[in-house]
Amino acid sequence: MQFNTLLCFSFFLATLPLLAQKRPLPDPLVFTNGKRVTTAKQWQSQRRPELLEFFANEMYGHSPDKPSAMRFEVFDTDANALGGKATRKQVAVYFDGKSNGPRMDVLLYIPNQVKGPVPAIVGLNFWGNQSINADPGIRISTSWMESGRGNPYVDVSCVVNHRSTEACRGINAQQWPVDSILNRGYALVTAYREDIASDEKSTMFTTGVHPLYPNLQNRGDNFGTVAAWAWGLSRIMDYVQTDNRIDAKRVAVFGWSRLGKAALWAGAIDERFAMVISHESGAGGAKLFHRGVGENIRRLCTVFPHWYAGNFRNYMDQDTLLPFDQHLVISLVAPRPIYVASAEEDKNSDPEGEFEGAKAASVVYQFLGTTGLPASQMPPLNQSVQGQIGYHIRPGGHDVTNYDWQHYLRFMDKHFKKK
Ligand code: GCU
Repeated sequence: MQFNTLLCFSFFLATLPLLAQKRPLPDPLVFTNGKRVTTAKQWQSQRRPELLEFFANEMYGHSPDKPSAMRFEVFDTDANALGGKATRKQVAVYFDGKSNGPRMDVLLYIPNQVKGPVPAIVGLNFWGNQSINADPGIRISTSWMESGRGNPYVDVSCVVNHRSTEACRGINAQQWPVDSILNRGYALVTAYREDIASDEKSTMFTTGVHPLYPNLQNRGDNFGTVAAWAWGLSRIMDYVQTDNRIDAKRVAVFGWSRLGKAALWAGAIDERFAMVISHESGAGGAKLFHRGVGENIRRLCTVFPHWYAGNFRNYMDQDTLLPFDQHLVISLVAPRPIYVASAEEDKNSDPEGEFEGAKAASVVYQFLGTTGLPASQMPPLNQSVQGQIGYHIRPGGHDVTNYDWQHYLRFMDKHFKKK
């Protein structure tokens, strides 16, 4: 008997490390002090702020307020752009109001066939505004440009000394189906990531808006680059609210990959975004770290040390043991619609982890009286599920395809064109 007890006990001890390797996902509807959220009001006024503060401290860093001196200068308006289909506008956003200070160029295409304010998609681009369409009217980016990402998405041979040239027009057009977006009655609003913050280890925090906020640097909860991009998206929203051709109450924030991580955080903190589309955002985006699959926190913090705040490094090698996870960030968007999508071969992003993240956030959507994600199992390839949360996985690799857009536009129709 005694021997058996001893045996059981040693077996228990032997399994402890295994048990310890996974910690259950935290319930979004339970406060840090263990109490349960019981009303929608409590979620909104207490739990949501608690989570926002947690993620600002531990992962994304703190962002500054809207700069009081910021000003907009509409430097281009063409009512007859893209063969008459659209009105093109370009707006310089001077973050600190100074003409020689950091500037973000915002490009807008507004469909001409629709009268009155239209819903819009706001998203950052990877290779400059001129990359999204061959339209000769787009101002060529003057910001630093990466010249070799060794990738299939763009031919960057047009980049000379890390600057774009005329030949860089439309190099990334296949990921931005401007025509389809306009035909469906949506405006497209975009800006270049580097105008806001450097995405390079060697120049991180030294260009764009970071030098304006020295007090938010060199601290554990520093204003990271993903947070800066999200902040830039909010500044675009500040402009959109002043433009009477756009219905600022129907704006979806979109982003792919690292910019999908930023779109998610932007939608989480800024409730003016009525919808979030976080496309293949992977680690630090929609995927759950707890599964321990795909890119991990160590890789994020070492290969891209500027993306998240310094405090996030404390969680390296703790992926499966985290006291938090990304479903909590997704739930901060609730009850506003969010779409998460994956690609089968995009193993780095862990498609199943992205699905599981969306699914785990669904309890908050349901708690707030919406449908959440209408799927308990990962749907098969090429099948979009759409409730208040949408999800699909398509064949192929890390990319933005027409298939993806087709479902994003359908999701937007569903939520933005309700009778
Ligand atoms: C890398 C990185 C991802 C990121 C991607 C991208 O692959 O590991 O986290 O999403 O770049 O932004 O293209």
